[in-house]
Amino acid sequence: MLTNKKRLLATALVILTTANYSIANDTVQANTVKVSAAEGSLKLVMQGLLKDTQALTAAMLNEDFTLIAAKAKTIADHPKPSMATRMKIMESMGSDMAKFKANDNIVHSAAVEIMTNAEQKNIKGVGENFKKMIDGCLSCHNTFKSRVSEVLK
Ligand code: HEC
Repeated sequence: MLTNKKRLLATALVILTTANYSIANDTVQANTVKVSAAEGSLKLVMQGLLKDTQALTAAMLNEDFTLIAAKAKTIADHPKPSMATRMKIMESMGSDMAKFKANDNIVHSAAVEIMTNAEQKNIKGVGENFKKMIDGCLSCHNTFKSRVSEVLK
């Protein structure tokens, strides 16, 4: 009797811990942020952009135009890294700084266009703007991410 009870208890515990584990795991995957970043760092700005882009994607797929506009605005007005970080980036970029900035402008203007199309409830337009925006993210990463990462680490 006692053994059976114990076995039952053990099974229940396993189920409970497994359930908890998978919930915790989902949270980690939803954020996909590996390491927490320092205040004023570019990493922290980027981690914020990732969260807002994820929320924007969800809002788009739910056709929640109010939320689409709000998330696009947060992306368009994303915070800048600290002055010290910006100086480091500028120094290392040299004459490539204009190209680096151009990618940031693509993301910014696409996010502003998303806001306009969201206000007009134009989901097709929003989708097209989103593609342009995400291309801006990927293009900058492709060209500059490893180089800047090296300078800022
Ligand atoms: C102007 C260039 C540029 C643009 C545009 C840009 N990124 Fe980044 N991103 C970087 C650089 C550089 C790093 C590396 C930072 C570092 O390692 O310190 C980075 C890193 C990241 C990371 C990894 C952060 C980490 O914890 O290591 C994420 C996520 C990210 N960006 C998301 C985005 C998203 C989403 C967008 C578009 C909405 C975007 N980025 C647009 C330059 C850019």
